[in-house]
Amino acid sequence: MNWKNATAARNGLTVTPKEIFLDRRKFVSALGLGAVGVAAASTPALAAAQAPARVPVEVPFSRPDTFPAKLNSKFSKVPSTIPAGQTPREIAAQHNNFYEFLPGRGGPVWKHVEDFEVEPWQVKIVGECNKPTTFDLDDVFAFAHEERIYHFRCVERWAMTVPWSGFPLAKLLNKVEPTSKAKFVRFTTANRPKQMPGIEAASHYNWPYVEGLRMDEAMNELAMVATGIYGEPLLKQHGSPLRIVVPWKYGFKNPKSIVKIELLEKEPSTFWQVQPHEYGFLSNINPNIPHPRWSQAESYWLHNQERFDTPIYNGYGDFVAGLYPDEPTTPQKPLKAGQVAR
Ligand code: MTE
Repeated sequence: MNWKNATAARNGLTVTPKEIFLDRRKFVSALGLGAVGVAAASTPALAAAQAPARVPVEVPFSRPDTFPAKLNSKFSKVPSTIPAGQTPREIAAQHNNFYEFLPGRGGPVWKHVEDFEVEPWQVKIVGECNKPTTFDLDDVFAFAHEERIYHFRCVERWAMTVPWSGFPLAKLLNKVEPTSKAKFVRFTTANRPKQMPGIEAASHYNWPYVEGLRMDEAMNELAMVATGIYGEPLLKQHGSPLRIVVPWKYGFKNPKSIVKIELLEKEPSTFWQVQPHEYGFLSNINPNIPHPRWSQAESYWLHNQERFDTPIYNGYGDFVAGLYPDEPTTPQKPLKAGQVAR
């Protein structure tokens, strides 16, 4: 994963990507911060540089019966340990991690998603369950949808607060009646080299992108199947038509554009876990466990690079701390090369 921005931010350097810089006035006004910190455009050239960039927010299909979904009042705010504020929609849509389109770094994924077909779509659920089922989009949208405001933290240290729409993952899994042997869940995401240019461009990766959760994590009330963001269907760059959101884990544990879900007896291996020098299966957000190449003590907002302390479990400890009796709560030593973090 790209850690250049993270390192630059840690060293106090300016790391504003061009698209975000060009849209700076827009997100400052969306945040209600007025013109604080934004130089007035004093020359035509400067005025042109500050003009808003093209806003990449093309919604791939319409579901007027579902969106906007009703806000769940229990999740109308992020935890108190996270600074207040919502990330502007255009900012969240302009800087994405989706290696199937843009491998090797987070960035303007939206520029590469045009050929990706997200309708029709099927997701099959198989494995340790009584009723293996294939769901099409009508089946997915038949679940009662709600909106939740969650804070989200990428392992590269950028963070955002966004409104997701969707439904609890537990509701989807319960439909197929997991057996008592189901201890883990593996998510497999779309693998379409003709539509996803990053797959062939980065053929050294072990495609498809797969992620996993323990069953008790998957059934936790925070874990969501997201089909929407900002009151509309997910944009392609966010993982249309459906993805997982687990806000207490690093962003890479939130797989996008899912086609298969397996209920398993044994822990599956995942896309990142098999890479040297990355985190392991658990990957809870924890400032006490440095990444092998950088500290996780601080996070920074995607929209303005301001830093803040990273709370353990991204602030969601009330919901999940009980799942992890062994989670380190004091700072751990940086890992040596070759050692895998939890
Ligand atoms: N899912 C797939 N299929 N492929 C990916 O490369 N990247 C992950 C996650 N899900 C990824 C993925 C990472 S590293 C992050 S931080 C989040 O998606 C980013 O979600 P966002 O781009 O919608 O903000």
